[in-house]
Amino acid sequence: MTHPYAPFIARRQRLLDHIQQTGGGVAIIPTAPEVVRNRDAHFPFRPDSYFHYLTGFPEPEAVLVLVGGDNPRSILFCREKNEEREIWDGYRWGPEAATAQFGVNEAHAIAYFDEKIVELLADQPTIHFAMGHDAAWDKRIIDALGRVREKTRAGITAPGAIADIHAVLDEMRLIKDDFEQNIMRKAAQISAGAHRRAMRASAPDRFEYEIEAELLHAFRSAGSPFPAYSSIVASGPNACVLHYVTNDRRMRDGELLLIDAGCELDGYASDITRTFPVNGTFSGAQRDIYNLVLDAQRAAAEATRPGALWNDPHDAAVAVLAQGMVDLGLLKGSVDEVIEKGDYRRFYMHRTGHWLGMDVHDAGEYKVHGDWRELEPGMVLTIEPGCYIRPADDVPEAFWNIGVRIEDDALVTPEGCELITADAPKTIDDIEALMRDTA
Ligand code: GLY
Ligand code: MN
Ligand code: MN
Repeated sequence: MTHPYAPFIARRQRLLDHIQQTGGGVAIIPTAPEVVRNRDAHFPFRPDSYFHYLTGFPEPEAVLVLVGGDNPRSILFCREKNEEREIWDGYRWGPEAATAQFGVNEAHAIAYFDEKIVELLADQPTIHFAMGHDAAWDKRIIDALGRVREKTRAGITAPGAIADIHAVLDEMRLIKDDFEQNIMRKAAQISAGAHRRAMRASAPDRFEYEIEAELLHAFRSAGSPFPAYSSIVASGPNACVLHYVTNDRRMRDGELLLIDAGCELDGYASDITRTFPVNGTFSGAQRDIYNLVLDAQRAAAEATRPGALWNDPHDAAVAVLAQGMVDLGLLKGSVDEVIEKGDYRRFYMHRTGHWLGMDVHDAGEYKVHGDWRELEPGMVLTIEPGCYIRPADDVPEAFWNIGVRIEDDALVTPEGCELITADAPKTIDDIEALMRDTA
């Protein structure tokens, strides 16, 4: 029978193989700290993404150590069992049960970490660690190194280098394995259902936060612990505020509602934007802009396939948007000029996508040796063109305050890409039909 944490064990082995192939050493990967919100209340705990990727271990106060060299092994440091604390705060695995459950070679109480790490670093060439991300951890590692150096008179050699462990983990995280793809498909489906629920619930005079509540209901009742990022529920002019999260305005008849919201599931994000009329029917000018953005999104999705460069979907979307902006009288000049001079950025000021995974803006470089990266099967990215038109004297009034974004999550496949968020309707006909059926 395969171990229930087999994907995590396989990732640790890959990382250990990398460490061995690059001269050995010890990798140290702590999880995230618990963060106080105010007085005795904490923010919801979420494990560090790198730590989760390698362990699946859900508790705070834990560190993974991978030891290279002659006796390669994985060691988890975690909280000890504690009946008193478990009565107040809930179950703790403890080192003994954690060893079997999470498939590590050893586990120890976190209280011994500072002492044990000095032993583990002795005679090792390199510390593989993400320096510069957490000042307290940087200090802890440097202090440990100092204590190993104190032993040099006893004939022990201290590590001579600190290597950035994120670089290798980012490359691994960029290609999602089957286990990750399945989670991401589920997260995408829950979020698509949430957007359908939001469309059904929308009506003039309701508040944006009422619609946000529908999204949260859909996420939580499907088992998602929380949204992957702050939900944007932006009606009317708010749709032109890219990071609007206040969500407290009363929605008016005749306006559009832009919702950018996705749940997190088992540590993985989904990220969907849909834009639809509050009253269920697109007006003429809204249709023009909406269909333009939809065409741009289709063009970008067509350009998303193995061998394409990272920027190809963006270039495809910009070509369609620039043409449409000229055709609709939003911009003057030739399409080539509008693209070359960047005039389209007045109405389309962000990029067409980002990597998606455990982090909504996920790990992974976009360029390799100065060139845009080639897409490969297993990569997941968003495709999210938009058009945002603020009132201005040189813009036809019919377009004022129209903000549209359409965002799907794309898994690159051997043939092209799979839009894993496709269950959220996005053609005008499909959106109007869904909203009519529930009116
Ligand atoms: N929701 C964040 C983004 O779309 O990038
Ligand atoms: Mn996005
Ligand atoms: Mn988004």
